[in-house]
Amino acid sequence: MSAHRVVHRSRLPAGEPTSRPARPGGAVSTAAEKARQAPENGRVAARGRGLTKTYGGGEATVVALDDVDVDIAEGRFTAVMGPSGSGKSTLMHCLAGLDTVTRGQVWVGGTEITGLGDRALTKLRRDEIGFVFQSFNLLPTLTARENITLPMDIAGRRPDPQWLETVIDTLRLRDRLGHRPSQLSGGQQQRVACARALASRPRLVFADEPTGNLDSRSGLELLRFLRRAVDELGQTVVMVTHDPRAAAHSDLVLFLADGRIVDEMPDPSAEAVLERMKRFEPTRQS
Ligand SMILES: Nc1ncnc2c1ncn2[C@@H]1O[C@H](COP(=O)(O)OP(=O)(O)OP(=O)(O)O)[C@@H](O)[C@H]1O
Ligand SMILES: [Mg+2]
Repeated sequence: MSAHRVVHRSRLPAGEPTSRPARPGGAVSTAAEKARQAPENGRVAARGRGLTKTYGGGEATVVALDDVDVDIAEGRFTAVMGPSGSGKSTLMHCLAGLDTVTRGQVWVGGTEITGLGDRALTKLRRDEIGFVFQSFNLLPTLTARENITLPMDIAGRRPDPQWLETVIDTLRLRDRLGHRPSQLSGGQQQRVACARALASRPRLVFADEPTGNLDSRSGLELLRFLRRAVDELGQTVVMVTHDPRAAAHSDLVLFLADGRIVDEMPDPSAEAVLERMKRFEPTRQS
């Protein structure tokens, strides 16, 4: 596993001030770092500055994201961890342009998506981003195969047949392609949702607990597939997980608590992640 890490070190975002402390591609926090607002190079796949997301109002206000600064380095595998309710899904949705922010700015590649109109945002999402939702979001009336190719069908694009077959086989869905979601197990539905996100080979893949419903073999296959997508195809993967063993497949773990990035860990091992997770207070566990 060490070979790819050496490669990725050399692929860290360029153009950072030399005085910047060694923080490999993850969250930034000081005022000086914040001053570097605009992404000045193409090696940051997604960037958030001052991301704040609140729900409700008055006493019932929930602060899901609290002034988050984050860089997702291109061609790397980033894991996002933290207690339930800490803002992980919200962060992914905001970075992917699936949800609006209350305050702050998001860039995907060199484009600020917080300034885009609906049509341009939809196009950018369709062309650049794959998203595996925590709740799968499969269409019940379509078969597994139709669900997998739906985004491309809508966009009028033909899938690369060889890539599509690879995705289907890696996720072990070949004998379930004609089934509708209600005829599939939870783990199979999750794999269909992953296949749908990967089918168009997007540059940037967000996966919200993609292994949450999988047995250990399926989970491991999916993680290895994501790892390969990063190492061999240069894709960028951001994955929420509660599983330290899953996080250990990533290059960098970002830890969220109460809507803030509170820590990060490059080159994580399952043991180190587990130790770090023990330090979270269970205040907002639901
Ligand atoms: N539509 C909404 N309306 C009100 N509050 C919301 C809404 N969506 C999320 N929240 C709140 O925002 C906070 C962050 O939610 P989020 O789904 O991002 O957490 P999470 O870290 O993904 O949790 P989990 O691990 O349980 O999936 C939570 O307190 C949640 O209750
Ligand atoms: Mg979530």
